[in-house]
Amino acid sequence: MVIKEKIEKRKQICCIGAGYVGGPTMAVIALNCPDYDITVVDINKKRIKSWNGDIEKLPIYEPGLSEIVHKTRNKNLFFSNQVDQAIKKAEIIFMAVNTPTKQEGEGKGMATDLSFVEDCAKRIAMNSESNKIIVEKSTAPLGTAMRISEILQTNKMPINFEVISNPEFLAEGTAINDLQYPDRVLIGGEETKNGNRAVEKIADIYRNWVSDDKIITTNLWSSELSKLASNAFLAQRISSINSLSVLCDVTGANIKQVSRAIGADSRIGDKFLEASVGFGGSCFKKDILNLVYLCKFYGLDEVSEYWHQVVKINLYQKNRFVSRIIENLDNNIRNKKITILGWAFKKNTNDTRESAAIDVSTRLLKKGAKITVYDPMVSKESIIYDIKENFKDQMTSKFLSKIKFSDNILSAAKDSDCIAILTEWDEFKSIDWSKVSKNTSSLFIADGRNILDSEQIKNSVDKYISVGNSKF
Ligand code: NAD
Ligand code: UGA
Repeated sequence: MVIKEKIEKRKQICCIGAGYVGGPTMAVIALNCPDYDITVVDINKKRIKSWNGDIEKLPIYEPGLSEIVHKTRNKNLFFSNQVDQAIKKAEIIFMAVNTPTKQEGEGKGMATDLSFVEDCAKRIAMNSESNKIIVEKSTAPLGTAMRISEILQTNKMPINFEVISNPEFLAEGTAINDLQYPDRVLIGGEETKNGNRAVEKIADIYRNWVSDDKIITTNLWSSELSKLASNAFLAQRISSINSLSVLCDVTGANIKQVSRAIGADSRIGDKFLEASVGFGGSCFKKDILNLVYLCKFYGLDEVSEYWHQVVKINLYQKNRFVSRIIENLDNNIRNKKITILGWAFKKNTNDTRESAAIDVSTRLLKKGAKITVYDPMVSKESIIYDIKENFKDQMTSKFLSKIKFSDNILSAAKDSDCIAILTEWDEFKSIDWSKVSKNTSSLFIADGRNILDSEQIKNSVDKYISVGNSKF
């Protein structure tokens, strides 16, 4: 009887979506909140099976994640496909489902596809028999919390739903550290008595490990906009430094020196000033396009165009990198072998969504090149999936036959006409280029991440291009 009461008193959280955000976020909450039982649910059976499977083969790779899952799984952290059941028993429901860019209909290619969020809201409305706080964890356009509320009203039982916005700021590759030591936790709610109470309940979860001064509370609109704006600001810094890298390429300036000089100003700060082949990742592009669309929707064309430029420069940067490779191969890459080092959109993750490697490789293949890919963390299957998605029906098989995969750098680089570094994996920083050069007739490196020291490699490399430094 006492044990039963104890179990009943435990607070029940459900998280819908066991992806890059849902999985790690709930693992960290479970670790820090032993009084809560957390069930992470997903309609993707394979994903749930692998969350429940071998601890070394979780569906998401994040440094430190497997240790936390090992400590909490089946104690107060559970992974399940039983979505309706988990909704029923939870007092707090996080929605961490995907919010991709719309592929059809009004706002196609720009606006956010809210169908996954709406499906969740419908399912919650259908299965709820008690009061619940719904937490919008997914990144979504302004007004989404209101839309969720509207859908929840289709439940005709005498129960109360409170919708809260609690956007996530973790970055992949450093997710566990970002969740354990966040710069801030943002919680937006309705400015009503019930709304404030719900905000406090969510803040209480975080108070188990985050100090009060880092918990920011706002209204719903501000919270939703702050998430989009944060990503837009970060991406804007990269596009700004990348635009200047182009000027460096055509003059004597060196972008690393310029970044250092700019970043030393404490008002500007030194983070996110690394020039690159272009930013990737599942969110920057989609979130900025969402912002661009929203501004247009409200008739703010100038504001819309201002943010659109951040995405346009990113595309320009990737295309320019490919053009420079082609120029350096006598403007003809037909049947030339180009080695791609790195497929992930950044180091320490196996995520490839919107990775610069996809666009760069697609363009190289279209111009007739053959490519060989090496990435320490990304599987051959993921790479094939990315290429198929990018080509859709345009003779995918023809291009797939021109891609090879390698499980080590030396064999990937053998007989290569150009080696393009597209992810900044640490192991690429210490490659012995003298060994590589023995197996190539002329060693040409296109360093899209500026990770090599041109002085150090000078004697083993025939040609070297980087981003924002014309000297070699
Ligand atoms: P993801 O694609 O990795 O995971 C989403 C999961 O939700 C999928 O496994 C999918 O099967 C599941 N899902 C979709 N609809 C469902 C439904 N009706 N019922 C049950 N499960 C359902 O996506 P993610 O990268 O975790 O991103 C989730 C959200 O978080 C997005 O809005 C994204 O913008 C935002 N975000 C992502 C990151 C990141 O680093 N990936 C960081 C901050 C915010
Ligand atoms: C980004 C934000 O950093 C997170 O705060 C946010 O929560 C997340 O998006 C999201 O909403 O999804 P993420 O995309 O995981 O996180 O990774 P970042 O570290 O931001 O890198 C994004 C891209 O920019 C990568 O391709 C990276 O290589 C590139 N980058 C980053 C640069 O080219 N230069 C830099 O100086 C920094």
